[in-house]
Amino acid sequence: MNKSKTITAIDVGTTKVFSLMANVFTDENLVTTPEIIATSVAPCAGLKKGNVEDVKLTTSAIKQTLQDLESQTGIKPKSAYVGVTGSHVDYENKRSTLNDLGTYGVITPEELQTADVKPESVKGRALLHSMPISYTLDGADGIRNPIGMHSDAVSVDTHVITADQNFLNKLTDACKGAGISVDAFVMEPFASALSTLTEKEREQGTLIIDIGGGTTDIIGFKDSRVIYTAVVPVGGYQFTNDIAYTYDSTYESAEKAKMDHGHTELTAIEISSNATLTSNEECQTTEVPARDIGRLLRERSIELAQMVQLKLEDLKMENADSMRVVLTGGGSKLPGISHLFQRYLGRRVRLGEPKVNWVNQFDDLTDPSQATVLGILIWAYSTLKDTPEINDQRKYSNKNNLLQKILTTHKKLRLSPWMRPTAHQINNNS
Ligand SMILES: Nc1ncnc2c1ncn2[C@@H]1O[C@H](COP(=O)(O)OP(=O)(O)OP(=O)(O)O)[C@@H](O)[C@H]1O
Ligand SMILES: [Mg+2]
Repeated sequence: MNKSKTITAIDVGTTKVFSLMANVFTDENLVTTPEIIATSVAPCAGLKKGNVEDVKLTTSAIKQTLQDLESQTGIKPKSAYVGVTGSHVDYENKRSTLNDLGTYGVITPEELQTADVKPESVKGRALLHSMPISYTLDGADGIRNPIGMHSDAVSVDTHVITADQNFLNKLTDACKGAGISVDAFVMEPFASALSTLTEKEREQGTLIIDIGGGTTDIIGFKDSRVIYTAVVPVGGYQFTNDIAYTYDSTYESAEKAKMDHGHTELTAIEISSNATLTSNEECQTTEVPARDIGRLLRERSIELAQMVQLKLEDLKMENADSMRVVLTGGGSKLPGISHLFQRYLGRRVRLGEPKVNWVNQFDDLTDPSQATVLGILIWAYSTLKDTPEINDQRKYSNKNNLLQKILTTHKKLRLSPWMRPTAHQINNNS
């Protein structure tokens, strides 16, 4: 019998809260692709550089979007999947030994799941995600999926992402204040990657750079695994603030000038074109050559590209230099910035627009600033699915019968984070 389940996803960004509601239908064996039934966005001034500074303001923005969702659908959301980012997010690649695997003769999905690495807890830090990168079996490393194999000594390399406990408490309080509990926290750039990258990009090695309002988040994929995470505490806010500071103008008029005239290539801006700024002091307006605005934005873009480049020096892996870049987030819409990043990072860069053709009611959800919320939905959706993935059938073909048995008796296995489907894969299944 079909059951309908409503998922609520919330991207609590530095400039806005974006919430959406989607329905999925489930029966014993199938979860249908999500149908988005409502979306809502509200400005949010409660965060700074991705950190919750003001719980009340954050609560009020979340509440506004939830009320809006309720008025569109008649459904009152009780819980939600909530995005997390900020300069407090940290990562580490760890190797851990897994004990007691292979008691059925070969390693089973259930054993792997229960052997999930629980990194030592550090005071004040909360585990956000623990994502296996690869396994080492009897000294042979780089094994992506050990299910169905036999080994006496198994260890796993894991990408461990942690967040500041205090931050998560504040975000939980903000959600509670808005009347909902948290189903799970999802790291925002990971979510953005789910909605914008193709399987090929995740496989071949790609860096996603999400230029938001308060932070620029980086996440790296290789062989379909997360291998790298970093946060640069600069986003669109600083771009606008440079204009406001230089001309002592209001933030709002500087933001408008950025939107109307911004370009990182000065020659692309009409030489005679002017931007109107409102001064802070007497509310007077001044005309400023648009190319001067462009110059400030260009300088800030170069600085951001250099900060990203510095971060990427931590990426110590073979062929790291050949990894491509996908730019997303609202800040990636600054005309010319992809080209500029391409030059300064020395990598191929493309703009990452979410691609979710299973969204039938809201055809316009293709804006880079919507990548995160759509990715949170993909995360939530795939959490409901019970299909274990087998990567390399060849390695255990002679054990296929046993494997099939194991798989059918472990239907309840939840997908590990690194097995999440891309938007593209969901599109193809719908
Ligand atoms: N066309 C544009 N040109 C330049 N900047 C833009 C453009 N459109 C949006 N932005 C900038 O994008 C930023 C907002 O992006 P986004 O919605 O991804 O941020 P957020 O999710 O609220 O923040 P964060 O992810 O840092 O918490 C703002 O600073 C805004 O000025
Ligand atoms: Mg964001």
